[in-house]
Amino acid sequence: MSSVPKFKLNNGMEIPAIGLGTWQSKSDEVIAAVSHALKEGYRHIDCAWGYGNEKDVGEGIKQSGIPRSEIWITSKLWGTYHSRVEECLDQTLTNLGVDYLDLYLVHWPVPMNPKGNHPVFPLLPNGKRDVDHSWKLSDTWKQMEDMVKKGKVKAIGISNFSVKKMEEILPTAEIIPATNQLELHPYNPQHELVAYLKEKGIVPQAYSPLGSTGSPLLKDEVIVEIAQKHSIQPADVILGWLVSKGIVALPKSVTPARITSNLNGTIAGVSKLDKDDIAKIDGLAAAGKQKRFIMPPWPVDLGFDNWPPFV
Ligand code: A2P
Repeated sequence: MSSVPKFKLNNGMEIPAIGLGTWQSKSDEVIAAVSHALKEGYRHIDCAWGYGNEKDVGEGIKQSGIPRSEIWITSKLWGTYHSRVEECLDQTLTNLGVDYLDLYLVHWPVPMNPKGNHPVFPLLPNGKRDVDHSWKLSDTWKQMEDMVKKGKVKAIGISNFSVKKMEEILPTAEIIPATNQLELHPYNPQHELVAYLKEKGIVPQAYSPLGSTGSPLLKDEVIVEIAQKHSIQPADVILGWLVSKGIVALPKSVTPARITSNLNGTIAGVSKLDKDDIAKIDGLAAAGKQKRFIMPPWPVDLGFDNWPPFV
């Protein structure tokens, strides 16, 4: 079993650079996926209350037989709970069957109406998502900090925060976010945002690192050529590129062979990619291939580049 690289966070903790993503993993599949991943050497599982499958993730962790203390577990605060952080976190802890998280993230910088017409996606009569415009993200962050003080989470961070949104919490933050989890892959590298995070000591994490389901990235001619040059898989090139750049990669899979190869392949990718390969992949988006795959219909300006104007 190869050893997985780790990145140091701004609170001194070390996060495994490869984790298993669980978004869109069906309940009946994710138990086996998580258990398989841990048995194969993964020590990092990325979950979220909003994925609706945390109980099954918890069951997978239990079935793996790997001690809790050896596993890095991340989960995320859902939008309808920005004013009730501890309530959402307690549900997550119960779902997963654990008594602390290693990392807890604000899932999206979009507080939603906690008393709306639906517990997960409250909608207004006009069909748009029911956003609580009066709630301040800096107040969400205060409650996140309280969870560290109470010992329920070891580190806190954010997800889907642009510079504009980070500026709503950083001036009053007592704890600087440890990570910012974003859609990051060769077609959406967000170089400037990643550079900003590095400057602030915030580790970037990549979700949908392979470009999500049905991804064209795995067939990209430049990626395929680099894969052939090193006798590795296209997925290994993409994941190795991310980790070489200091970005935590969170590939999702429920297929045992892919789960195993994504771990060992990333390690191979990191050791084989050379400077030219990295530069070529770095340039793909700017050369005309820029593409975001994940753009939920939030009725607010998130402040990201390459996101269609909100309506
Ligand atoms: P599956 O879960 O059926 O194995 P992302 O992490 O970017 O969201 O990508 C997840 C998608 O990519 C899923 O559809 C997953 O399918 C698929 N996938 C994961 N790993 C690989 C791989 N090594 N090769 C090809 N497809 C993969």
